[in-house]
Formats: sequence, structure tokens, C-alpha cells
Amino acid sequence: MNFELSKEHLAIQETARTFATNELLPGVVERDEAGEFSMDLFHKMGDLGLIGLPYPEEVGGQGGDYLGYALAVEEISKVDASMGIAYSVCTSLYGGSIMNSAAPVEKKREVLQDVLSGKCMGSFGLTEPNAGSDAGGCITVAEKDGDSYILNGLKCFNTNGPLAEYTAVYALTEPEKKSKGLSCFVVKKGTPGFTVGKVENKMGIRCAQVSEMILENVRVPAENMITASGDGFKLAMKTLDGGRIGVAAQGLGIAEGAFEIAKEYLKTREQFGKPLYKNQYLAFKMAELAMEIESAKWMLYKAATDKDSGKSYTQSAAKAKYLCTNAAMHVTTEAVQMLGGNGYMKEYHVERMMRDAKITQIYEGTNEIQKLIVSGALFR
Ligand code: CAA
Repeated sequence: MNFELSKEHLAIQETARTFATNELLPGVVERDEAGEFSMDLFHKMGDLGLIGLPYPEEVGGQGGDYLGYALAVEEISKVDASMGIAYSVCTSLYGGSIMNSAAPVEKKREVLQDVLSGKCMGSFGLTEPNAGSDAGGCITVAEKDGDSYILNGLKCFNTNGPLAEYTAVYALTEPEKKSKGLSCFVVKKGTPGFTVGKVENKMGIRCAQVSEMILENVRVPAENMITASGDGFKLAMKTLDGGRIGVAAQGLGIAEGAFEIAKEYLKTREQFGKPLYKNQYLAFKMAELAMEIESAKWMLYKAATDKDSGKSYTQSAAKAKYLCTNAAMHVTTEAVQMLGGNGYMKEYHVERMMRDAKITQIYEGTNEIQKLIVSGALFR
């Protein structure tokens, strides 16, 4: 067992940390208030090689690994969790759908390279109004017509939906088989009939753009079906295993970001003639949070390492997602409380982090679904 990060991993961490501090931090409060996503900043992350980190060079990636990618999402999310999820959806959910699929390498490269270089974004179209936790309940259909498929349906809560050049859309090619009849298609922005529906007005991760995606007689070439007919559900599940590592890294980053702000505040803010940290109640609170963060972190790094070493990572990813995102909610809530009135004010950042943390317990499988996955394996 090795608890040390390699030189390469430390370099990735440093690159992402410097970018987050120098480029994401200025303006993060204003972007949150306006609910605006910065494509310029996303392009810069691409230029730094962050988006394509875990994928091979032959498809346009950087040839790195998932641990390096998790470290980068963590650093980005310490400062800007909206950018953290936009990044994670491009890499884990869109990129994962393609990489885990049966598509030939040329096809993978064709539909991945511009996303992995940060030129444009990718999105993941699985969830529907009546298929949330029960992802197998999708009713979007794809009907064969010559050398194309015609897609009809409605996807919702699509992160990056309005901005994405490419979306991995999950649709039933054999509706009578329900989830066993699901397949996956790459649908390009601008394809006639593929339009953006309601753009969501959210409590947190306000800069990430999340919307419905409407499919009305969308004609997609058959070569853009990247699974065998009926293999879509398993592809989505496998992809979400990797996605949960991304969300865990986002949650961990949020927790660490709020922890650092609280620590600095307790050192510098004086009340009753002494710095706040000299109150044992607050020092012990910070000790508890430090232990919670560190244990969640090692679970995340284990999940990423399981994936990198070719082991099954469904279980470790579910555990990491649960622990890191619960840490995010707990630490940010305590940070707001420890900063008192200032914690409630936007310029101190922790109120945004608390709002951002909540969704990490919900998306890419609620934390109740993670318990279902973990308990399912215990009693199989
Ligand atoms: N990897 C590969 N295959 C898997 C798998 C995995 N992790 N999990 C299940 N499967 C396979 C099973 O082996 C089974 O195969 P067989 O039929 O051959 O036996 C098949 O899939 C069906 O499995 P289940 O019976 O366990 O499926 P289920 O319908 O009971 O669902 C579930 C299981 C875990 C609850 C699943 O539905 C789930 O993960 N739900 C949550 C969905 C989710 O995370 N949605 C988030 C969408 S993205 C998002 O949040 C928005 C965003 O943009 C950020």
C-alpha cells in the first residue's frame, strides 16, 4: 500500500491549484450571482490538459489516469464547484460513455477529441422526468429508419446541456425490453429536432448550465449508436461508477475549500480578547472536520486507484461518493456557523459552498442509492 502521490500526480495537483487560485477565484462570486458559465475558463482548462487527463492519447486524451483526474477535480472544486461539475460531466459522463462503449477507436476519437481538448463540451442524457433514481425507466425511443435512427423523447437535468456540442443520449431501441432495450447515441448540437428545453434556476452550482433536452424526430446516423442494441443500461451504470468518483472529488474539494476558509478565520478573528481557535469547542470542531475530510479523501483515492488498476470499482466509487459529499455538506454547514454573520455573506465564499454542496448528495445517484449499491453487495 502506498499513501504517497507520485511526482506526476503532485504536478497535476499544482497545475490545477494554481489555475483555480489565479483564474477561477477572481469573479467566482459574481459568476455565481449571475448564473453564468465561463467558456473562456473552460477552454483554458482544456489548454492545461485537464479535461482529457485520464484518457489515451489515441482518442485525444493526455494518457494519464483517474487518480490524477480526481486530484484535478478536487482542486478546481475547492474554489469553483460549478466548474468542477461541468468538468466532471465532460470527462466522466460524456467521456466515460464513449470510452466504455463498443465504438471503434476512430469513432471514439472523432466524437471525443474536441471535448477532451476543451474546445467544446460534452453532456450526458440519461435522466428523464420519470426516470431519476430508477434510471432503467427511460421512455425516450430510437426507431431504426434505413441507415439512421429517429429519436423522440425528453431528457432532464442535463448538466452542460445548453452548451454541449456532443451529448450521449440513452434511448430505447427495443422498448418492449425496457431497460434491457436501452442503447446509447452520440447526438450533435444543432441536429434538427434536438433543442434545449427549460434551463434550470438552481440553489447551487449556479454557473453550471443544466437543462432539459428535447428530442423531436431527431435523425442520428446509425454509426452514432455506440452500443449494441440493449447494452445501454450497463454502459450508463459503468459510466456512472466513474462519474461518482468525479462527484466525490467535487465534494471533497468543496469540503476542503470551506475548511481552509474556516481555519484562516478562526486564526485571525478575535473575540473576548483571543483568536477564535483558542476556544476548545471550535478547535475540537475543526479536529472532527479534519478527520472526516481525511477519511473521505482516502476512500476517494482508493476508488480512483481501483479503477486505474483495473479492479472493480462500483463499490469503492459508491462509498467515496457517499463519504465525500456528506463531508461537503457537513463541513460547509459548520463553516458558515463558525464564521457567524460573516459566513452568511457572499464575499466569504462559504455560503456558496454550502449551497453547492447540497446537490452533490443528490446527483449521479442520491446518497440513498449509494447505500442501495453498498448494501446490495453485502447481502448478495
Ligand atoms: N456496472 C455494470 N453493470 C451494472 C452495474 C454497474 N455498476 N450496475 C448494474 N449493472 C447491471 C446488472 O448486473 C444487471 O445486469 P443483468 O441484467 O445482466 O443481470 C443490470 O445492470 C440491471 O441491474 P439492476 O437490476 O441492479 O438495476 P436496477 O434497475 O435495479 O438499478 C440502480 C440499479 C443502482 C438503482 C441504478 O438504477 C442507479 O444507479 N440509479 C441511479 C441513477 C443515477 O445515478 N442517475 C444520475 C444521472 S446523471 C446526473 O445526475 C445528472 C448530471 O448531469 C450530473
